[in-house]
Amino acid sequence: MRPDLSRADLWREDCYIAGVWRSGDERIAVDNPANGETIGSVPFMGTAETEEAVTAADAALPEWQRLTGKERGAILRRWAALMLEHCEDLARITTAEQGKPLAEARGEVVYAAAFLEWFGEEARRVRGEVLTPHASDRRLVVSRRPIGVVGAITPWNFPLAMITRKAGPALAVGCTFVIKPSEFTPFSAMALALLGEEAGIPPGVFNVVTGDAPAIGEVLTEDVRVGKFTFTGSTAVGKMLAARCAGTVKRVSLELGGNAPFIVFEDADIDAAVEGAITSKFRNTGQTCVCANRFIVHDDVYERFAEKLAARVGQMIVGAGLEGPSDQGPLIDERALAKVEDHVADALARGGRLLAGGKRHAAGANFYTPTVIVNVAPDARLCHEETFGPVAGLIRFRTEDEAIRLANDTRAGLAAYAYTRDASRHWRLSEQLKYGMVGLNTGLVSTEVAPFGGVKESGIGREGSHLGIDDYLETRLACIAV
Ligand code: SIN
Repeated sequence: MRPDLSRADLWREDCYIAGVWRSGDERIAVDNPANGETIGSVPFMGTAETEEAVTAADAALPEWQRLTGKERGAILRRWAALMLEHCEDLARITTAEQGKPLAEARGEVVYAAAFLEWFGEEARRVRGEVLTPHASDRRLVVSRRPIGVVGAITPWNFPLAMITRKAGPALAVGCTFVIKPSEFTPFSAMALALLGEEAGIPPGVFNVVTGDAPAIGEVLTEDVRVGKFTFTGSTAVGKMLAARCAGTVKRVSLELGGNAPFIVFEDADIDAAVEGAITSKFRNTGQTCVCANRFIVHDDVYERFAEKLAARVGQMIVGAGLEGPSDQGPLIDERALAKVEDHVADALARGGRLLAGGKRHAAGANFYTPTVIVNVAPDARLCHEETFGPVAGLIRFRTEDEAIRLANDTRAGLAAYAYTRDASRHWRLSEQLKYGMVGLNTGLVSTEVAPFGGVKESGIGREGSHLGIDDYLETRLACIAV
């Protein structure tokens, strides 16, 4: 069943290309992960339609770039305002297709709108430089120009925010955009496109294509008219897409998988650490790239932290987001649930002990009971692979060096967390943890005003903040003889 909306037209089952809503006979069904019911379908488009979208985006560039930053920014800020005005409807669409609890979906609408507002403000602040010349008869002017058409592939875990975090800076500087949203969550993207149209985004500037992922991906990564490609998703797929972009030497931004350590030191405020752990581990039912993936806890506070965490986890309400109060929704599909089960079984087989959960939940086929496991072996799969589910596995440490070594023992480098009251240790951790983002005494680092992104195999580039603009600009030099 579709969600009830106060503006029924926000539910669109067509693609948006060149400012036109486009249907198609071949369709992909979209299911509600909370109950498996089909809630709608979107067109199965491929190479031809994606090329059309790129053609439209390419054609729209001159007019879009003719606007001033202030004018483009005003459109982005109007788009953000419309998102907030229709927050409840957008949240209901997101929950229906993605499964997150309604309160979290409302939070995502606000988070997503904040990127449009922020980059709408930043649109006026793109600066160049005049350099001191190398010769008296030369002048050196460095300008920053929009890269051009941007191709984007976005994931299902944040069906709105992962789009606006890319489209916001792209459109702000004068790029145009072709996006393939996840086939699990296309309706949030379509509602966003409709509100963008109402905000005044001209035809061709923002295009949404759904369908044949390999075919769409091939155009977005290989078409010479696409100047930049941006992807949020798994590390394996990110590497494959980046390799394809090499053929036309595109600019690439990748926001890939994490394996976030969450360190609890002996001097931590344990109640605060438990709350931080809940936020970091169980946000979106454990399905974020920055979710804590392994808890590294000092021997002196191990039992206390574990017991309090298990008690807190045991209070969580598990259920369908649209059907009542819920803290934890379903996993996105059966495959995701099977991976969670494998990680739990592996941890238990290697000597782990359950303190909470450890089984499927009666709320429905894709629901898993929030889980805490102690005595997890450092070589357990959940210490080395992203679980992407509601499972907290705890390992022990004795010294700061050991905690840092365990935390850095991964090719991922997105987010890390630590709880400690020692201010000089804050400095050491922020310098020695090899991660793009380090949360100290907090379980949440995401905000539109700060750079989001990873090091090592967790990605390239930064999203959000004033730095998020750079990824959509190229530097040009004019060397002028006078
Ligand atoms: C992600 O999971 O990729 C994004 C999470 C966030 O923005 O906080």
